[in-house]
Amino acid sequence: METKKSTIQSNSSFDAMANVYPTRKQSLIEDAHRDSVVSNGSVDLTSYPSCESDDVFPEEYESEKGIDVEKKKQCITFSAKDDMGFASLTQALKIFEKCQMNVTHVESRKCRNDNNNVEFLVECETRNGWYKVLPKNLKKVVNNVTIHRKDTSQRLPWFPRKTTDLDKCNHLMSHFEPDLDHDHPGFSDKAYRERRTKIADIAFKYRHGQPIPRVEYSEEERSTWKHVYTTLSDLFPTHACKEHIRYFKMLEKEGVYSPDRIPQLEDVSNFLKSQSGFQLRPVAGLLTARDFLASLAFRVFQCTQYVRHHTSPMHTPEPDCCHELLGHVPMLADPEFAQFSQEIGIASLGVSDEDITKLATLYWFTVEFGLCRQDGQIKAYGAGLLSAYGELQFALSDQPEQRPFDPSKVSVQEYQDQTYQPIYYVTESFEKAKAQMRKYVSNINKPLQLRYNPFTQSIEVLEDISTIRKILGDVKNELDTLLTVYERLV
Ligand SMILES: [Fe+2]
Repeated sequence: METKKSTIQSNSSFDAMANVYPTRKQSLIEDAHRDSVVSNGSVDLTSYPSCESDDVFPEEYESEKGIDVEKKKQCITFSAKDDMGFASLTQALKIFEKCQMNVTHVESRKCRNDNNNVEFLVECETRNGWYKVLPKNLKKVVNNVTIHRKDTSQRLPWFPRKTTDLDKCNHLMSHFEPDLDHDHPGFSDKAYRERRTKIADIAFKYRHGQPIPRVEYSEEERSTWKHVYTTLSDLFPTHACKEHIRYFKMLEKEGVYSPDRIPQLEDVSNFLKSQSGFQLRPVAGLLTARDFLASLAFRVFQCTQYVRHHTSPMHTPEPDCCHELLGHVPMLADPEFAQFSQEIGIASLGVSDEDITKLATLYWFTVEFGLCRQDGQIKAYGAGLLSAYGELQFALSDQPEQRPFDPSKVSVQEYQDQTYQPIYYVTESFEKAKAQMRKYVSNINKPLQLRYNPFTQSIEVLEDISTIRKILGDVKNELDTLLTVYERLV
């Protein structure tokens, strides 16, 4: 656990902290790699032609008898049996283990046709003859076992076209949740896990356009929030960029933020809408990179609502509302930064897994861990820094390497998720960073050129001359109006 005392000491204490710093697991980049494993683009199960496990098995396996197919990937989904919930997954994973199949990825979500049940997606490496033993054993402990095969004919991954499509962007990286992650501080705390599940349920039931339900936080949760809030806000005046300081103060002044009360997402969302047009929607945990980035394209930030475990107030292996509200929200209120974030999101729609990984890496080194130069000093604007007391000081010390932001280099930079970053990237201004990102994005090989229409809150495909002419006409009309007013004023 990070402590204020230990991180205030000399530089050598940073080394000590690095050694004891709990593994940071909420890495969007890792998620992007996992996306690549799961499918050829989207994790949307509807993109897989599926077959019932009992009646169809891939002929290729029959013809490959005697050949080592140990590393062939397979995707299997199933739902929980009766009311067993995550306990079903635990039992299923034991079957995978007994069949000597290496599980490489697990996701969960509420069943689409049964909101009270949960379904799971497991990606694994198969062994010869796996299909003779795995499905029938799985069926003993779970329901609706289905084998999925990749649809190689699908050239463009699915992406949301309108804001309501974000209701489908709900694929979670379940392995970081306290039910499955042995390192999670809440793993052995049944009451915490139940509380987290109860709050996460709000996100499962949420649909776009609804007000975000309010949470009555407990005394323990409020105490954790207060600890994190007061500890971090001590550092903001000297370490945060001026945009963060400005909007953090505004949130306090308008009574949305206070150390004594955990803000309600609906109130924060309304504040963001009034400042930059961004809005929040509740999310049940860590999303896949593709789903998370896609939401940004619509100026929607998927925000967790539960609070980290009280025994670990300065660290959480998964995102929680302390990280989102103290790190991300003040920055998203800034129109320039909001535009920067949205452009990363638009760039992510429909691109290959390789490009999703690169964009997630760019997101990591900017929105999560970015530094900027302001008035001759280096300041933090990344939410991962602004919500982590120890790393915030480390990033601005003379210990890590600070390099100028260059998207083509940053997109392929190896990242560190076990301890503090050895390298941080410094941008001169968000305006310059946006221009650099636009240049980078223009070189992404993408079959469709897309644009966000703020009036219809939808993604337009720029596929023919008449569509582009119409948009240019609208832009020209707006430009004419602005020029007329400008000429009157100068
Ligand atoms: Fe974050």
